[in-house]
Amino acid sequence: MTVPDEAALARWRVETGGLPAEEILGWAVAAFPGRVGFSSSLGLEDQVLADMIAARALPVRAFTLDTGRLFPETLDLLARTEARYGLGMRVFLPDAVEVEALVNTHGVDLFRRSPGLRQACCEARKVHPLKRALAGLEAWICGLRAGQSSSRADVHAVDWDAGNGLVRISPLAAWTGTQVDAYVRDHDVPVNPLHATGFPSIGCAPCTRAVAPGGDPRSGRWWWEAAGHRECGLHRVAGPGEGRRG
Ligand code: ADX
Ligand code: SF4
Repeated sequence: MTVPDEAALARWRVETGGLPAEEILGWAVAAFPGRVGFSSSLGLEDQVLADMIAARALPVRAFTLDTGRLFPETLDLLARTEARYGLGMRVFLPDAVEVEALVNTHGVDLFRRSPGLRQACCEARKVHPLKRALAGLEAWICGLRAGQSSSRADVHAVDWDAGNGLVRISPLAAWTGTQVDAYVRDHDVPVNPLHATGFPSIGCAPCTRAVAPGGDPRSGRWWWEAAGHRECGLHRVAGPGEGRRG
């Protein structure tokens, strides 16, 4: 969609300011009818959103990106989530020829070799499939929270996603991890069993490890890279006309 002006973004933020997450979801489907996606990694936040979306039967196009390197527990959770909520979640896979070229040139675990190759892997396995998933949409719903990391501190409930060229809705932007945990418990939301074994934030299997109790929840993601750069390129945190990689 075309870049909204600052006034439109400011208006959307006024309209959603202080709304509960459920109502932010309702606002999104009313503001962008038939053009809202829900991008789920099957993480805790996304499972909360799935529960809210299903409870209200909100018309969103739900999808997940299967990178080919996910934990088996994550794929199992995808099946359980569909059985529970019936969101019709579509699965987007990477382009086989693109991945073959990467791994046959640089090795199957190329992400360990350099930050550049790690980004290239994320581009092929996540960012390019995301582009296909977002085609035709005007807004996408994500499970980002401002408290997740310093690079996400600027996340609002409504942002212009300059990197992907559409509006990003983060209904849980202002939530704490404690609130997420409480919602999961209170609504008996299905979650990844790995969370109970020290994995607060779960991505691809070779790029995620357990975190010590009380440790930074995202410190188990791409742990061998410098802190502050641990993003995969799906998200930018920025306003219209500007952008920095989150
Ligand atoms: S990541 O960029 O580090 O991988 P994180 O795991 O925190 O992101 O997830 C943040 C949000 O990005 C999720 O709530 C979800 O909306 C989206 N996301 C991340 N990974 C995926 C995926 N594999 N499929 C679909 N959406 C995803
Ligand atoms: Fe590749 Fe790791 Fe990125 Fe997954 S998280 S796409 S395995 S670099």
